[in-house]
Amino acid sequence: MGTKNMGFILGLIGFLFLDGLLLCMAREVHHYDFVLQEANFTRLCSTKSMLTVNGSFPGPTIQARRGDTVFVNVINQGRYGVTIHWHGVKQPRNPWSDGPENITQCPIAAGTNFTYEVILSDEEGTLWWHAHSDWTRATVHGAIIILPAVGKTYPFPTPYKEQTIILGSWFKADVMAMIQNSIETGSTPSNSDAFTINGQPGDLYECSNETTYRLPVQSGKTYLLRIVNAVMNEEQFFGIANHSLTVVAQDAAYIKPINTTYIMITPGQTMDVLFTANQNLNHYYMASTPYVDSGIRFPNTTTTAIVQYEGNYSASSSPFFPTLPSNTDIDSAQNFTNQIKSLASKEHPINVPKNISTRIYIAVSLNRLLCVNDSCDTGTGDRQAASLNNISFATPQIDILQAYYSFYLVGTGPGNYNNVTDPLSYNLVDPPEVNTINLPRNGWAAIRFLADNPGVWFMHCHLERHSTWGMDTVFIVKNGRYSNQSMLPRPAYMPPCS
Ligand SMILES: *[C@@H]1O[C@H](CO)[C@@H](O)[C@H](O)[C@H]1NC(C)=O
Ligand SMILES: *[C@@H]1O[C@H](CO)[C@@H](O)[C@H](O)[C@H]1NC(C)=O
Ligand SMILES: *[C@@H]1O[C@H](CO)[C@@H](O)[C@H](O)[C@H]1NC(C)=O
Ligand SMILES: *[C@@H]1O[C@H](CO)[C@@H](O)[C@H](O)[C@H]1NC(C)=O
Ligand SMILES: *[C@@H]1O[C@H](CO)[C@@H](O)[C@H](O)[C@H]1NC(C)=O
Ligand SMILES: *[C@@H]1O[C@H](CO)[C@@H](O)[C@H](O)[C@H]1NC(C)=O
Ligand SMILES: *[C@@H]1O[C@H](CO)[C@@H](O)[C@H](O)[C@H]1NC(C)=O
Ligand SMILES: *[C@@H]1O[C@H](CO)[C@@H](O)[C@H](O)[C@H]1NC(C)=O
Ligand SMILES: *[C@@H]1O[C@H](CO)[C@@H](O)[C@H](O)[C@H]1NC(C)=O
Ligand SMILES: *[C@@H]1O[C@H](CO)[C@@H](O)[C@H](O)[C@H]1NC(C)=O
Ligand SMILES: *[C@@H]1O[C@H](CO)[C@@H](O)[C@H](O)[C@H]1NC(C)=O
Ligand SMILES: *[C@@H]1O[C@H](CO)[C@@H](O)[C@H](O)[C@H]1NC(C)=O
Repeated sequence: MGTKNMGFILGLIGFLFLDGLLLCMAREVHHYDFVLQEANFTRLCSTKSMLTVNGSFPGPTIQARRGDTVFVNVINQGRYGVTIHWHGVKQPRNPWSDGPENITQCPIAAGTNFTYEVILSDEEGTLWWHAHSDWTRATVHGAIIILPAVGKTYPFPTPYKEQTIILGSWFKADVMAMIQNSIETGSTPSNSDAFTINGQPGDLYECSNETTYRLPVQSGKTYLLRIVNAVMNEEQFFGIANHSLTVVAQDAAYIKPINTTYIMITPGQTMDVLFTANQNLNHYYMASTPYVDSGIRFPNTTTTAIVQYEGNYSASSSPFFPTLPSNTDIDSAQNFTNQIKSLASKEHPINVPKNISTRIYIAVSLNRLLCVNDSCDTGTGDRQAASLNNISFATPQIDILQAYYSFYLVGTGPGNYNNVTDPLSYNLVDPPEVNTINLPRNGWAAIRFLADNPGVWFMHCHLERHSTWGMDTVFIVKNGRYSNQSMLPRPAYMPPCS
């Protein structure tokens, strides 16, 4: 089988920590309690119990400023062990709190608690947190809002209001039971039954129109949407009817503003988007629909929310619908992605590695693996797998100490990578600094990072299906020569491995 597009996550380092004293004075410390608990939710005409943080879906928002530290005490009142990952937080020298299960820690067992120390450095914008144990992230996730440091402002006009928009997947079935069954039998995991915007499927799904998410807006005002793609397996096209969007940040790093009628966002990514309520008083759909560049079966449905102007007017009978690219429109996806460039200003400089000491080639693919002792019931004696350099990752039963990096996307293209001609087209001036990328089907991407964050960092496909099948690896970054290039001491308590 061919390769599929995938999102990568790497954890990188903070560059700013040399300046410890100055940052310490400005830095604030925040404390959150997250109670993992089962809660009943009704969507698409049926009710199920699912794991949540504090009974909410999506979960609570964490808000901090650039350079702050956030302690999150995760109290597990659920039925099984879970870990939480702070997606895109560089965690300088602190892999202990990164979270991927059995990579940096063993699960927080039911009935126990564990406190994460989330160390922010140069991230600014929107990130998110999510459970990192099997497919628990489907229901256990929320936004992380990182405001500019005290006394600093956005590199764009201050919006009138801000709103987090979390794109999610909804499964009528119990997600953990579904994925366990799929792993045991070798079958392909089920597709989701709906996509959601802030937990609601929207008007186009059964039993959903009474609870569609509504965003009230005032005519003439500008709004900042902090968009998180928490969908499990599909990239998304997103837009708002009759309104143009201005994308100003991606993965908590500012970019040169892009005016567009739609965005393409990969699972794992975040984008900060401005829009001005400059149309007639009325109601307008915002919509999100899958983008797929391969021939696979996907849930071809669309989630909607409503942008509703305040005021006294008679609205059209139904909201206007945005014109989005078709689900398989590769050109539109690439046209959007290719426009993304780092802001790379004096206030928000970038530092692209130019002197490469180690080149790593990774071939990404989907494969079939033989089933041991007739353990699966696929009928073919083999099962779906995925690999990096033809090795399918098996999660260990103890922790390898895991964490995440950010990196610069310096080039991407179709076909086989040519290591003589393709580097000539690299962008080393203002490449976007990201934690997750879209890897085009049967294509390539080149990323660069400085290995300056000691620890163990998980790199994997953020399409959960591919990660489950083994499209994962771990970077082990050794301590540097000096103590400020070494991992922080191991916390007194880490969840024990069974
Ligand atoms: C979650 O619930 C606990 C217990 O009710 C509460 O103490 C905590 O503040 C809540 N956390 C958030 C983020 O709302
Ligand atoms: C969910 O609903 C079921 C059936 O009504 C009930 O037995 C259960 O206690 C509820 N769970 C929670 C967490 O409220
Ligand atoms: C567990 O929670 C209690 C209070 O809620 C706290 O004092 C303790 O430090 C926590 N333990 C860990 C390992 O985080
Ligand atoms: C939802 O749909 C039902 C059935 O089509 C309709 O009766 C009801 O008015 C709708 N509610 C809203 C808020 O649009
Ligand atoms: C929204 O745009 C459509 C064309 O895409 C147009 O027909 C419609 O009149 C517009 N609606 C409003 C309220 O301006
Ligand atoms: C985007 O649109 C705004 C408002 O219409 C305009 O001021 C700005 O120059 C445009 N930016 C680009 C990069 O085209
Ligand atoms: C997805 O659904 C839309 C609308 O129903 C349809 O036009 C389109 O052909 C479908 N796309 C695929 C790839 O099946
Ligand atoms: C709304 O506008 C209508 C017609 O212009 C008017 O009759 C009505 O009094 C207005 N209502 C309010 C609450 O202003
Ligand atoms: C994508 O951009 C290219 C060149 O800029 C243009 O020729 C093409 O029409 C665009 N395609 C779409 C679908 O916008
Ligand atoms: C490039 O890096 C190597 C070691 O990795 C170092 O020896 C060399 O001096 C560097 N060159 C430049 C131009 O910085
Ligand atoms: C992680 O290790 C524990 C034992 O310490 C095991 O129960 C669990 O299944 C492992 N998780 C994964 C994803 O393999
Ligand atoms: C380019 O690829 C060839 C093999 O295809 C390899 O021998 C060579 O080392 C590569 N060059 C670099 C700079 O990686």
